[in-house]
Amino acid sequence: MRRPHLLITSAGRRAKLVEYFVREFKDGQVSAADCSPLAPALYMAHHHYIVPEITHPDYIDHLLELCQQQQVTALLSLIDPELESLAAAHDRFETIGVTVVVSPQEACALCFDKYAMYTHCVGQGIAHAKTYHTLAAFQEALALQEIDFPVFVKPRNGSASIAVSRVGSLPEVEHLFDQSEGLIVQEFLDGPELGVDVYVDLLSQEVTSIFIKEKLVMRAGETDKSRSVVRADVFELVEHVLEGTGLVGPLDFDVFDVDGTLYLSEINPRFGGGYPHAYECGVNFPAQLYQNLQGHINRPAIGQYQENRYMMKHDTVTLVSAAQFEQSNHNKT
Ligand SMILES: Nc1ncnc2c1ncn2[C@@H]1O[C@H](COP(=O)(O)OP(=O)(O)O)[C@@H](O)[C@H]1O
Ligand SMILES: [Mg+2]
Repeated sequence: MRRPHLLITSAGRRAKLVEYFVREFKDGQVSAADCSPLAPALYMAHHHYIVPEITHPDYIDHLLELCQQQQVTALLSLIDPELESLAAAHDRFETIGVTVVVSPQEACALCFDKYAMYTHCVGQGIAHAKTYHTLAAFQEALALQEIDFPVFVKPRNGSASIAVSRVGSLPEVEHLFDQSEGLIVQEFLDGPELGVDVYVDLLSQEVTSIFIKEKLVMRAGETDKSRSVVRADVFELVEHVLEGTGLVGPLDFDVFDVDGTLYLSEINPRFGGGYPHAYECGVNFPAQLYQNLQGHINRPAIGQYQENRYMMKHDTVTLVSAAQFEQSNHNKT
């Protein structure tokens, strides 16, 4: 078995996560890629590469070439918008010996479409906020008193909390629908929000880890402060939700506790921005991924972490010399 060489794409600001990978991939290598030489996480990896933007038509071809040149054995993306295209190219990477750590394309598509996720949950008997994908459907529900204000209006395919708003009146909802396309209206979930980090073993397809944090403060769409909690009802929900979905690898769930009923809000089929809390409490996904890439199965260890630990994110800085910066920029693939 070749020593794992992991390429983390769209590394961005996820410096802590890249550091964890470097620590856990003891005999392996960790590379990071981004379209900007000013992405700080690049400089935490053993090697880094500047690649085209993910929307570039040749992006996947560039990655394939880079993987071949650098003898990469596995690829992992940290952002939603490239998951589906990586999943679609899964076989092309497999042919050159690269494991793409991503769920199947249909599973990624389901997670990326908030209306599809709603209908999926209704079908599976999983509590989910009532969701409307047209203004007319929302107005009808309002007239039937199926739903009331406040509501949440957001893009059907959004991420990073961009354009998510809490709205208190119909004219405001109408105004938002006038301004943009592809919006949905959602029932307001009134209760504590939980962020759940899940690892599904790539080989056994079994859930091996579930870490729950109560979100205390959000900032720029990410959990900024949180507290670890252990709840059997959340563990059960996660196992139930995952049945038959094909989702694998690191996953990030958003769940609301509304008077004791758990509502699934969304699943991001990738590392969540709050994952450092899980790692620091002893839930080690990079080590599990390393084991999987070495052909070993991980044993389930659900709920084995420190409860009541508060996580606070904070600033740090990284400096690179002009020479290093130029070198990175110059090495564009
Ligand atoms: N229906 C809702 N009820 C209450 N809060 C919501 C609702 N929808 C979104 N939010 C808040 O907005 C945040 C971002 O919304 P989310 O649906 O997770 O979109 P994104 O994919 O952009 O992360 C959530 O983490 C939550 O705090
Ligand atoms: Mg979210």
